[in-house]
Amino acid sequence: MTDSSLKNDVFLRALLREPVPYTPIWMMRQAGRYLPEYRETRAQAGSFLALAQNPELACEVTLQPLRRFPLDAAILFSDILTIPHAMGLGLDFVAGEGPQFASPLRSEEAVAALAVPDMALLQYVFDAVSVIRRELDGQVPLIGFAGSPWTLACYMVEGQGTQDYRQIKSMLYRRPDLLHRILDINARATIQYLNEQVRAGAQALMIFDSWGGVLAHHHFQAFSLDYTGRVVSGLMREHEGRRIPVIVFTKGGMPWLEAIAACGADAIGLDWTTSLSEARRRTGDRVALQGNLDPMALFGDEASIRREARHVLDDFGAPQGGGHVFNLGHGISRFTPPEAVEILVDEVHSHSRRASA
Ligand code: CP3
Repeated sequence: MTDSSLKNDVFLRALLREPVPYTPIWMMRQAGRYLPEYRETRAQAGSFLALAQNPELACEVTLQPLRRFPLDAAILFSDILTIPHAMGLGLDFVAGEGPQFASPLRSEEAVAALAVPDMALLQYVFDAVSVIRRELDGQVPLIGFAGSPWTLACYMVEGQGTQDYRQIKSMLYRRPDLLHRILDINARATIQYLNEQVRAGAQALMIFDSWGGVLAHHHFQAFSLDYTGRVVSGLMREHEGRRIPVIVFTKGGMPWLEAIAACGADAIGLDWTTSLSEARRRTGDRVALQGNLDPMALFGDEASIRREARHVLDDFGAPQGGGHVFNLGHGISRFTPPEAVEILVDEVHSHSRRASA
């Protein structure tokens, strides 16, 4: 099922719960500001968006972490907010403040005018995927990604990052019909967007539900998981004779783990507040698990980084049968010393090899 032209397909095998010689590792936000070479390329591009919209430079920053560390997967350099940008909401990354939309969805008229964007507006993303696939030359698999419909809606309605989710929750409680319309359009756009990434060469897909965990317990299914599940159901799962595994990451998703594991994804991403052994017990080995080192563990000393990495590996248990992809529980901090990543990757590979021997 996996690709013989790939020099390293351990990541894909682990996701499909096939035998592996060691536990594969990649890191969310592995291409980013903790690397001086990333900061340099970003300065050369002029802005984050200019960088993401230039396929050659997006390819360059995708490959930068792989030149430093023997990671087992590459992730497309882009952002989840490309879709709302293509919908005309006017994305800008304000220095020091994160993403902002010029025209957030704050009225019935704005929601009524929203539509699935023409995928031609996102061609720069698909071009980046093709260039990266070519330049990777089979070294490791390439992950494509998108945000979940709910997480995208949070940014589209709030207009920026938020502490209290006041705007989107006002809409949820007062006008759930408007929110459902946004979620429906986001789901349809995301299906097209991810399938285009697969056609361009993405070998696995990840859906980031970064803000699923802020919903009230009884709202998670209707406002987040139902739409994520619709996206998963609409995806091409086979391309060029290979299975395209799908990973769903819900930050704070532990309360709904069984339901998330039943959404159709091959793997579930977990944050660091979750125990992998408990998650494994609760999902009954129906899905692979990805995670879940506290990103702040990379601010420890060498001995503690190695100890924490072993804790995550041992918590999951025997790796030979696949089913575990090592990752951080959320994106790597921009202040992380690159040397800490080197230590982490070494410990994950060497400890899991010993455990498999
Ligand atoms: O993982 C990777 O290396 C691939 C690239 C990637 C980026 N964003 C690049 C990026 C991925 C997978 C994302 C996903 C993303 N973007 C998410 C979901 C994952 C998560 O972290 O929860 C979210 C919520 C966003 C939205 C977003 N983009 C925010 C909130 C910010 C600002 C905060 C920050 O970390 O700076 C961004 C900007 C962004 N996206 C940067 C990078 C490398 C930093 C921009 C810069 O260079 O200044």
